Amino acid sequence: MKKFIIGNWKMNLNVHEASLFATKLAQDVPIKRGVETVICPSSLALSPLSLQINHRQMKLGAQNCYWRDEGAFTGEIAAAQLRGLAQYVLVGHSERRHIFDEDDREIRFKVQAALRNGLTPVLCVGETETERGEGDTAHVLGDQIVSGLLNVGSDQIDDVLIAYEPVWAIGSGRTPEPNEIEEAVKMIRSQIGHMFGRNAATSVPVLYGGSVNLANAESILRAKGVSGLLIGGASLIAPEFAGMVQIAADVLKEEKDG
Ligand code: PGA
Repeated sequence: MKKFIIGNWKMNLNVHEASLFATKLAQDVPIKRGVETVICPSSLALSPLSLQINHRQMKLGAQNCYWRDEGAFTGEIAAAQLRGLAQYVLVGHSERRHIFDEDDREIRFKVQAALRNGLTPVLCVGETETERGEGDTAHVLGDQIVSGLLNVGSDQIDDVLIAYEPVWAIGSGRTPEPNEIEEAVKMIRSQIGHMFGRNAATSVPVLYGGSVNLANAESILRAKGVSGLLIGGASLIAPEFAGMVQIAADVLKEEKDG
């Protein structure tokens, strides 16, 4: 199964800096069959980078979108407007949920808007530290998956990616143990199984995100059921990001050689 290495640049780098950084990545990031490398710069940089990058080496993702296709929504960017510029879009990232109060209904609409416009949504889910402490992780993940994928058809589920990102791990330098990641990913896959059947439960890519770096990437990529990484901070360091693409390729090769 394909591996995904997705870099979320968040609100960093202006257009000029983004272009310079993409030049560095072009030098460093290996092109590996079976590894899909995606960078998610600010929306402003999507257009210039779509002309700059080698699309065999890297794809582009947006960090967010609005769910209406057009209209009087000042300041928003529609999934329809990302068509042709990005192939992926992050939906329901914890910073969107917690800083911008995005709720499950809005996130569900965004997933649908992405699919309607030919973009692959990366639906981000994850529990807060309090929820984890209260033993609520399974419940929270289940709810976020059910709600986010509620109106997705069984013919569309193959175009969806899930990212498990525990809120407490994002930007904190703390990560769950690989066995804890395996457990959460299993819960996510089982919920997808309930909704879309057994095939979907195994075939939908489930990524891990939250304080991933070059040092911990390998053990996380080896965790059972993990299909890739969603990387924030470390995606802005070219050799780290490129190194993780290489690790994904190595792990994939080992899996294939069995
Ligand atoms: P981090 O961010 O790697 O900096 O923790 C991950 C994310 O927010 O997607």
